[in-house]
Amino acid sequence: MNTVILLIGANGQLGKVLTNALQDKYGKESVIASDLKKSEDSDGIFEVIDATDIDRIMEVVIQYNVTQIYHLAAILSAKGEENPLRTWNINVKTWLNVLEISRICNLEKVFYPSSIAVFGNGAPSNNTPNNAYLDPTTVYGISKVDGENWAQYYHVKYGLDVRSIRYPGVIGYQSLPGGGTTDYAVDIYHKAVLNKTFTCFLNKDTVLPMIFIDDVIRATIELMEAPIEDIKVRTSYNIAGVSLSPKEITSEIRELYPDFRVDYKPDFRQDIAEGWPRSIDDSEARMDWGWKPQYNLWSITETMISELIGQYEVIL
Ligand code: SER
Repeated sequence: MNTVILLIGANGQLGKVLTNALQDKYGKESVIASDLKKSEDSDGIFEVIDATDIDRIMEVVIQYNVTQIYHLAAILSAKGEENPLRTWNINVKTWLNVLEISRICNLEKVFYPSSIAVFGNGAPSNNTPNNAYLDPTTVYGISKVDGENWAQYYHVKYGLDVRSIRYPGVIGYQSLPGGGTTDYAVDIYHKAVLNKTFTCFLNKDTVLPMIFIDDVIRATIELMEAPIEDIKVRTSYNIAGVSLSPKEITSEIRELYPDFRVDYKPDFRQDIAEGWPRSIDDSEARMDWGWKPQYNLWSITETMISELIGQYEVIL
């Protein structure tokens, strides 16, 4: 059976990079990117899909003989709080649509991104284990806990091969995140390269688990390619990259931009961040499918800055 992958939510921070990585691996003709609107810079097959419409997803799955779905569409933690019921409806409904189609069409594999947002005050905040108590404080986090449980349900009840990772905050240069609590860790690099002052919406000492985009993409593909018998966790796997505070990122950036200035104006996102872990125990992912991060704060900073300098030179 030829692998044909449908990505839902392909225009987002992860979607664009994952689409390119999967195109490199499986060929452009085997990857169908989709989102609510066609992306300007999409290079390959693109279909407009509103994932709340199950019939539309089905149409595309049948048209291309899709064998795997990566379901990336979601409203993130900070944005989600603006309209909790809408966030719930979109995050959960789209995922149930994907699970139902995968079951009905007997798809080979499905990927579901979960998040550190599943944890709340009931979990230890340092080295939070995979099976910690889950009492999220945001509707995004609640929807991800729910999504993880549905993933496990479809696996146990129907034998669907659903695989999932709890992503830390993702730092990448290719596109901006939208509506998350960890977004500052991307924005800060843009401001540094543009020689602007950065106003941070978290306190300087707020430590959160973060990960570089290359590690995230590699983790996702490694998980999806692992032999089925190695996948022991069917809710979602913790993975860790590096734990960071705004102050630590700022001091690394100052190695390259000594005059870089950061002001702190914490807002409601500070409360969200305070409910999340400071660091993650990812020993199950390491043991089951060999996960290991490659980027530390310095290599993230060097790569972000050199890539962004290149991008802004093109634009300016
Ligand atoms: N990066 C996400 C957010 O901040 C967490 O998964 O919402």
